[in-house]
Amino acid sequence: MAESITTDPLTPVLSATWGADRSWTLQTYEQHEGYAGLRAALRQQPGEIIDTVKESGLRGRGGAGFPTGMKWGFLPKPDGGPRYLVVNADESEPGTCKDIPLMLAAPHLLVEGVVITSFAIGCNHAFIYVRGEVVHVYRRLMQAVEEAYAAGYLGRNILGSGFDLDITVHAGAGAYICGEETALLDSLEGLRGQPRLKPPFPAVAGLYARPTVVNNVESIASVPSIIRRGPDWFKSMGTEKSTGYGIFSLSGHVTRPGQYEAPLGTTLRQLLDLAGGIREGHELKFWTPGGSSTPIFTAEHLDVPLDFEQVAAAGSMLGTRALQIFDETTCVVRATLRWTEFYAHESCGKCTPCREGTFWMKQVLRRLEAGQGTEEDLDTLLDQCDNILGRAFCALGDGATSPVMSSIKYFRDEFIAHQREGRCPFDPVASTLFAGADIQ
Ligand SMILES: Cc1cc2nc3c(=O)[nH]c(=O)nc-3n(C[C@H](O)[C@H](O)[C@H](O)COP(=O)(O)O)c2cc1C
Ligand code: SF4
Repeated sequence: MAESITTDPLTPVLSATWGADRSWTLQTYEQHEGYAGLRAALRQQPGEIIDTVKESGLRGRGGAGFPTGMKWGFLPKPDGGPRYLVVNADESEPGTCKDIPLMLAAPHLLVEGVVITSFAIGCNHAFIYVRGEVVHVYRRLMQAVEEAYAAGYLGRNILGSGFDLDITVHAGAGAYICGEETALLDSLEGLRGQPRLKPPFPAVAGLYARPTVVNNVESIASVPSIIRRGPDWFKSMGTEKSTGYGIFSLSGHVTRPGQYEAPLGTTLRQLLDLAGGIREGHELKFWTPGGSSTPIFTAEHLDVPLDFEQVAAAGSMLGTRALQIFDETTCVVRATLRWTEFYAHESCGKCTPCREGTFWMKQVLRRLEAGQGTEEDLDTLLDQCDNILGRAFCALGDGATSPVMSSIKYFRDEFIAHQREGRCPFDPVASTLFAGADIQ
């Protein structure tokens, strides 16, 4: 039986101050207990902070859900050389929209989390790697970092503790693969962003081959409140193995799209209640629980508790809680084609299964969407997925197979209807545009 949640439908912690006047300024942040977590942390031993985060059960919010405190604990013992914290703020997964609003509305929450985490892991130079396209977020972060230096939260001898920390905010050049942690590190080092062979893992040999922790923005931004309010408070929300809260981003055919911060284990039905439901006069057809790299769900999954375990048990992944909602007017074949075009474009080309596989999946899907495919094409597509899944060098390749396999699983009839009618049943005019699409 599904494990239900026990807390309120909404739990604004990360988003608590987003509506405040000039929420991004240090002044506003301090008026809302800003940097109180840092003051509490600096009174503790670094090991105590790691233990608190371990005890809270916080799991990485960047997609894979790896326990955050455990990751910090993997760093080898200090050897006198530098060790780094790198915050992954690349946020490029289609549908994912949580880190960017967080950094825009509450950049100091991230800065405070960076200082606490750096103190805990013995890092004196942290990096925030921001997706290149979001120049406004980059500027806001730079401004927050400057304010934090001026107020003594960064720099030498932070708040008289003897701890030193510098933060570098780095803008990437806008490549989805640079969100993969080792490609990100290569990019940060000035190399072409492509995934590294693991092991060694970043904890052992990361940035400049030194011990490095890579964490998502939301993971790090969750740290100040855990330190301030304690692990039991955090565990009082969410489910047994997926504790705490998270930002659920609802986009697409929903009445009030946006970010909804709620305990893990919340269902789409509950979130839709908060978001005013599917747009008027329409009904839910399919949705992604965690972005386009996670297998799609349908209306039959409305009551799946959105935590790591229960989404996996239902056949998908919690990912980044990017809920893209599609109603009955959407052609699932076209949506799958669009996602596949994205993956083919973003494939870094390092390994053959992904480089070639995403290219050929795109060609077959174009043909199918235009009503010129055959039923055999569906087997070809599944075969292509089989040749990528588990054989690609990094998770981008695996992710590219998710929309294809799941859409065929739930909507095989719709693929066949395209073939039967010789066009897209949803949009006959536009589909003819694709009919003659060249292989490119
Ligand atoms: C293609 C690809 C893109 C990714 N993009 C991001 C991203 O934009 N942000 C992020 O935090 N993690 C991203 N990840 C996951 C990171 O590799 C890594 O697991 C994460 O930053 C770890 O942080 P966490 O433990 O706090 O979740 C991506 C992974 C892959 C394979
Ligand atoms: S799976 Fe794709 S993105 Fe990842 S290394 Fe291979 S080609 Fe590059």
